[in-house]
Amino acid sequence: MIRIGIILGSTRPGRNGEAVARWVHEHAVKRGDAHYELVDLKDFDLPHLDEPLAAATGVYEHPHTRTWSDTIDGFDGFVFVTPEYNHSISGALKTAIDFLFAEWHDKAAGVVGYGVSGGVRAAEHLRQVLGQVRVADVQAGVELLMHADFEGFTTFKPAAHQEDMLGRLLDQVVSWSTALRPLRR
Ligand SMILES: Cc1cc2nc3c(=O)[nH]c(=O)nc-3n(C[C@H](O)[C@H](O)[C@H](O)COP(=O)(O)O)c2cc1C
Repeated sequence: MIRIGIILGSTRPGRNGEAVARWVHEHAVKRGDAHYELVDLKDFDLPHLDEPLAAATGVYEHPHTRTWSDTIDGFDGFVFVTPEYNHSISGALKTAIDFLFAEWHDKAAGVVGYGVSGGVRAAEHLRQVLGQVRVADVQAGVELLMHADFEGFTTFKPAAHQEDMLGRLLDQVVSWSTALRPLRR
């Protein structure tokens, strides 16, 4: 069965991202078409990039890098749950991507963004970064608006259509992750 990691890209206390990632995971597991797992960056406690050699070498000095590497290596595809901070993704998410290289290759990903403007600018930045680490980003996306999908900007209550958008995104992530399998062997 295809394994999809749902990567929660915000780490700050009181983050809205946790409710969003749980919503994605809850809907995903009901589908029964893949193994879906929540990957919370907070649990990995990665520092600023502290590996002496570039990730492209695959040579890692630190245990935290090896743990992160083993985790990402085990997935066939991803759903990135990303906040928008100053028109981009969080520093924590960018660092987590930068720590690795081959572990990302030839996998598919969808982006669930959220923010005042639906996280669209962060999502577009993320797509650029993903291209460099050879992740194929799917067309469908989820754009959650602070004023429409979060009551009082803090309680996550997604509008009904967001579930359909998420379904489309997951369809595409599963089909592309499956199609790219021969390249990963
Ligand atoms: C440092 C910071 C910068 C932000 N910049 C933007 C922004 O440029 N555009 C936007 O739409 N929302 C922006 N926001 C609002 C966030 O998208 C919103 O607060 C969201 O809940 C952040 O995700 P989190 O709660 O999981 O940390 C910003 C929030 C923070 C904390």
